Amino acid sequence: MKTLREYIKEADEKGIAIGHFNISNLEALHGIYNAAKKLNVPVIIGLSEGEEEFVGREEAVALVKALRARDNFPIFLNADHHYGFESVKAALDAGYDAAIIDAVKLPLEENIILTKKCVDYARELGKKENRDILIEAELGFIGTSSKILDAIPEGVSEATMTKPEDAKHFVEATGVDLLAPSVGNVHGMVKGGNPRLHPEVVKAIREATGIPLVLHGGSGSMNEDFVACIAEGIDIVHINTEIRVAYRDAVKKFLNENPNEVAPYKFLKSGVEAVEAVVEARLKLFNGIK
Ligand code: G3H
Ligand code: ZN
Repeated sequence: MKTLREYIKEADEKGIAIGHFNISNLEALHGIYNAAKKLNVPVIIGLSEGEEEFVGREEAVALVKALRARDNFPIFLNADHHYGFESVKAALDAGYDAAIIDAVKLPLEENIILTKKCVDYARELGKKENRDILIEAELGFIGTSSKILDAIPEGVSEATMTKPEDAKHFVEATGVDLLAPSVGNVHGMVKGGNPRLHPEVVKAIREATGIPLVLHGGSGSMNEDFVACIAEGIDIVHINTEIRVAYRDAVKKFLNENPNEVAPYKFLKSGVEAVEAVVEARLKLFNGIK
């Protein structure tokens, strides 16, 4: 099987993007995996520090590796938004394929030092264990929470989008594999509608850095904006809030309609199906499948 790095390169050459979806439980993993298998496209499962604490670090690795081995299917595991060296190291040691060191709240030079430390560790471990481990970093604040938001998070604006020259300096100084920029995207879904994305900024950052870019905060963005950003150099798109909402709403509806149902495998199935439907639609869009 190709490595995640090779799948990203292939997506880039084809002008499509790989879908990255977060999980908090086994049901979401089933829903995401069902959709990816159905469409036969690679997929990345992400767990933030909070999601990882709930699911279990080693448990997440075991689940994803089991599916990959059983079906010889390209499903990969990413330590999403890990905030410190020790939590990145723990995820990589446990067997994650990739990690995101999220030091975006630090001043640029401190972000560079911490990111470089994670890149160096990933290279050392990769060499020792013959694994191709990817490190992603963030540059430019896009908010923090995958939830429904009353308004655009404070500190996010067109003025604070990632500057191509900062991105170039950052990538050269850290040797990072993937970069998550701020291009109009926000984490979470804004009640009045998410801001528009800026494909021209994606293009400028891609030209300046030459490395694959990752679009975070995908939930709530417009289809045409995704397509335009993917065409300009986005190779991975992250979706979380949309599947959280779909899961919650489906289970709630099922239990309202079936108040006497007590078998979790019955009432949680509605959540699996709802996640699958959202992921299938997103994967079709990102992979250019009609
Ligand atoms: O890393 C996770 C994502 O960036 C998800 O963002 O909840 O807005 O889809 P989202
Ligand atoms: Zn994110």
